[in-house]
Amino acid sequence: MSDVTPDLLQVEGLTVRYGAGPVVHGIGLAMASATVAALLGANGAGKSSTLRAIAGLEPAQGRVLFDGQDISGWSSARRFRAGIAYVPEGRAIVTDLSVADNLTLGAYFVDAATRARRRQVVLDFFPEIANRLKAPAGLLSGGEQQMLAIGRGLMSAPRLLLLDEPSLGLAPLLVARVYERLARIQQEQQLAALLVEQSFHAAAKLASRAWVMRHGHIVGELDAQALRTREGRQQAIDAYLGARQGEAAHA
Ligand SMILES: Nc1ncnc2c1ncn2[C@@H]1O[C@H](COP(=O)(O)OP(=O)(O)OP(=O)(O)O)[C@@H](O)[C@H]1O
Ligand SMILES: [Mg+2]
Repeated sequence: MSDVTPDLLQVEGLTVRYGAGPVVHGIGLAMASATVAALLGANGAGKSSTLRAIAGLEPAQGRVLFDGQDISGWSSARRFRAGIAYVPEGRAIVTDLSVADNLTLGAYFVDAATRARRRQVVLDFFPEIANRLKAPAGLLSGGEQQMLAIGRGLMSAPRLLLLDEPSLGLAPLLVARVYERLARIQQEQQLAALLVEQSFHAAAKLASRAWVMRHGHIVGELDAQALRTREGRQQAIDAYLGARQGEAAHA
């Protein structure tokens, strides 16, 4: 395991409930800057609820520390301005707006020159959308829409990108392409990202640490070595994730 102090994000005793009983039960996790971590688990495990609570989009109990500062009481807007950008599951771009306007939404609070500079960086990472700037975002393919959603997240120059299932609904080749780009962005921009995935196979390539969630609890943790080696991945799949993931890992 890395000996870097996981000081960028610390989550302590995080509990999320929607009316009835909790769906996230007092979980804890921590990550360092310029690293990628993953939250894995099956449908309904509580992954999105955790991510949304960190972004300030769901009321939660417990503590969230960002850069050592307790941000638990902060609104989602304040967390966003502090550098936490959330890319929701299902992409959630504004389909009626142009690609360019969708990107602008990710950086509405910065001056035009900064915005233009960031947009160029994003378009260099995602040339697929660079010549579609004027097109309504709804006309992009699924893969292009995912690139746009990630690009919009990057427009705020986040210190922490929260990515909810970037592989959702994409064909395997497109998943590989999106993850290649994320790896490049991570390397070149020293980006920190917490990504949620059902696809262990996809996440293992990018993350240096992963937690496995089940029924709102963290039931397992993998370090970089376990994620990088075939045996480590297989052990994790056998222990936490089950046969369906085993097939995916061999795909
Ligand atoms: N807005 C909501 N109101 C009520 N219950 C919710 C709400 N959002 C999620 N839940 C419930 O909370 C539990 C955890 O959901 P969550 O979306 O966090 O899971 P997940 O791990 O992201 O699953 P998936 O992989 O399917 O996206 C589920 O039982 C879900 O039905
Ligand atoms: Mg989810």
